[in-house]
Amino acid sequence: MKVLVTRRIPDAGLALLNEKFDVEVNPHDRPMSRDELIAAARDADGVLCLLTDRIDGELMDALPQVKGYAQYAVGYDNINVPDATARKIPVSNTPGVLTNATAEMAWALLFAAGRRIVESDAVMRSGGWAGWGPMQFIGGDVTGTTLGLVGAGRIGTAMALKSRGFDMTVLYTDAYPSETLERELGARRVDLDELLSESDYVSLHVPLMDSTRHLMSTPQFKAMKDTAYLINTSRGPVVDEAALVEALKNGDIAGAGLDVYENEPDMAPGLAELPNVVICPHTASATVSSRNGMAVKAATNLIAMLEGTPPPDCLNPEVLG
Ligand code: GLV
Ligand code: GLV
Repeated sequence: MKVLVTRRIPDAGLALLNEKFDVEVNPHDRPMSRDELIAAARDADGVLCLLTDRIDGELMDALPQVKGYAQYAVGYDNINVPDATARKIPVSNTPGVLTNATAEMAWALLFAAGRRIVESDAVMRSGGWAGWGPMQFIGGDVTGTTLGLVGAGRIGTAMALKSRGFDMTVLYTDAYPSETLERELGARRVDLDELLSESDYVSLHVPLMDSTRHLMSTPQFKAMKDTAYLINTSRGPVVDEAALVEALKNGDIAGAGLDVYENEPDMAPGLAELPNVVICPHTASATVSSRNGMAVKAATNLIAMLEGTPPPDCLNPEVLG
């Protein structure tokens, strides 16, 4: 059998695939176009895909022999799962292995934005620092402040649990109460309005769905404290990025730390010129163990799909015979 891997991933995953299949890897260091993907997968039995590939019914119909799509990411908004289910094609993702890496990135962005690390670094490199000054680079406190999690799934929960060293009050929104957060941190489940008006750091941990697209827009930024920061390690379109640029310019909020963008790799006009935003290139899961874990998981899921055993992380188990 043959599989297509739509972009080079760590060897830990490729080695597992190579033991079983004829493996073709995208030769380019960029996403494949739809036409390239279809041409390369024309005789493939399975596809290991990425969040930069759009996987929908049209693609599935162009590749009727493909028996499964294994995504190398936890988020899967790029895959039309109902289309796959309608065609009885299993799809999978990589939950768990990137939880800590992503939670750590949320913290890195929180500190970098709050303590103005990137702005300060730029001044040092430019030779523009004339020595210590009492009013330079005053930023946000962390210890004893309030952390607001929008979404308390695996990653939001992991981020919140790491707040223990900073004695933070934790608020969260979620469809369900989190026993872990309430027991471990005395966290309180609140509605979004209350979370926005009380939090010093608002960190987004929801998947991208119709109900979360532009969850954060002008009214939400106005509802936040003008001393508060927005942290986004989830998906770019959860934030109305043009509205965020305005909020950062107007001082509706103090700053933001972003790992994801509405139209990657582009950014909203003006965003990259603002001093009060820290911008990373969607690298929250980019640690050695996390990326190796994602590669192994995606490969393991794809092998199961092609061997007819249940993939451990199937997103539409109802298609499994
Ligand atoms: C990365 O964004 C992921 O969803 O794993
Ligand atoms: C994703 O892993 C989440 O549940 O936050």
